Amino acid sequence: MSSSSITCSRFAIIAAAAVLLQSLGLSLFIFGFFPTKPALSGVRGPESFRAPWPNGVGNDSAAALPPEELKQLYQELSEISPPFDRLILMVVDGLPAEFVLGRDNKPPREAFVEAMPYTQSLLADGFAVGYRAKAAPPTVTMPCLKAMVSGAIGGFLDVALNFNTQALQDDNIIGQFFWTGRKMVMHGDDTWLKLFPGSFIRHDGVSSFFVKDTVQVDQNVSRHLDEELCRDDWDLLILHYLGLDHVGHLGGRNRYTLLHCNT
Ligand SMILES: *[C@@H]1O[C@H](CO)[C@@H](O)[C@H](O)[C@H]1NC(C)=O
Ligand SMILES: *[C@@H]1O[C@H](CO)[C@@H](O)[C@H](O)[C@H]1NC(C)=O
Repeated sequence: MSSSSITCSRFAIIAAAAVLLQSLGLSLFIFGFFPTKPALSGVRGPESFRAPWPNGVGNDSAAALPPEELKQLYQELSEISPPFDRLILMVVDGLPAEFVLGRDNKPPREAFVEAMPYTQSLLADGFAVGYRAKAAPPTVTMPCLKAMVSGAIGGFLDVALNFNTQALQDDNIIGQFFWTGRKMVMHGDDTWLKLFPGSFIRHDGVSSFFVKDTVQVDQNVSRHLDEELCRDDWDLLILHYLGLDHVGHLGGRNRYTLLHCNT
């Protein structure tokens, strides 16, 4: 009787130790493999154009200015006149560099050249510069956008958070456009809207969850173009096309060429 109770309590201790060890191992794994990157607080303001202030305190009364005056203020501070009034950022999701720039120092295949004649003519005439950026996996939309606009490498946990995107906290170029009084319009992947809520004066978000849809996701972006290009109330227009990315998801890499030959 007494010996069995000893084994019983010993068993309980061993079991408790095993559970403890397992939770320790699990937390080590989670914190080791999914380090969260803390957002750096603070954003660049007008003080970064001025000589360092002795007390280290800036003058943030600029934030209260109306957008037009804010734009003017930054214009004067930077002392550089912009060569262009407006900027269009067009993202073609899932477009391999070899379609546009070729591969292994060889020009792209004839079919690819014919598919994008305008881009190719710009490259050929030296009006466009082509360059390749190597992205580290995971190459899902949200970490890529974060990397593009903030210049920082995304944390691995961003993949898990891709489906639960929150507003971007780090200083970034879209935020800077917003804080310096630029008006922005966005049509396309609604990840932009989640990362920069309230930053756009007009937007039409397309959900990237319609993976089977390769036509409407692009049409819903292009249908605004005629109207947007006639308006002059924006400074930055973002277009994010998802169709090609969805083609890639549906049939893999070879599907691109297959579709291309059929159409
Ligand atoms: C802060 O900016 C406002 C408006 O630009 C100016 O009137 C004020 O003198 C500035 N304060 C300091 C401490 O520079
Ligand atoms: C495209 O726009 C139409 C009409 O606004 C909408 O019903 C449809 O769901 C949109 N498609 C996608 C993929 O967002």
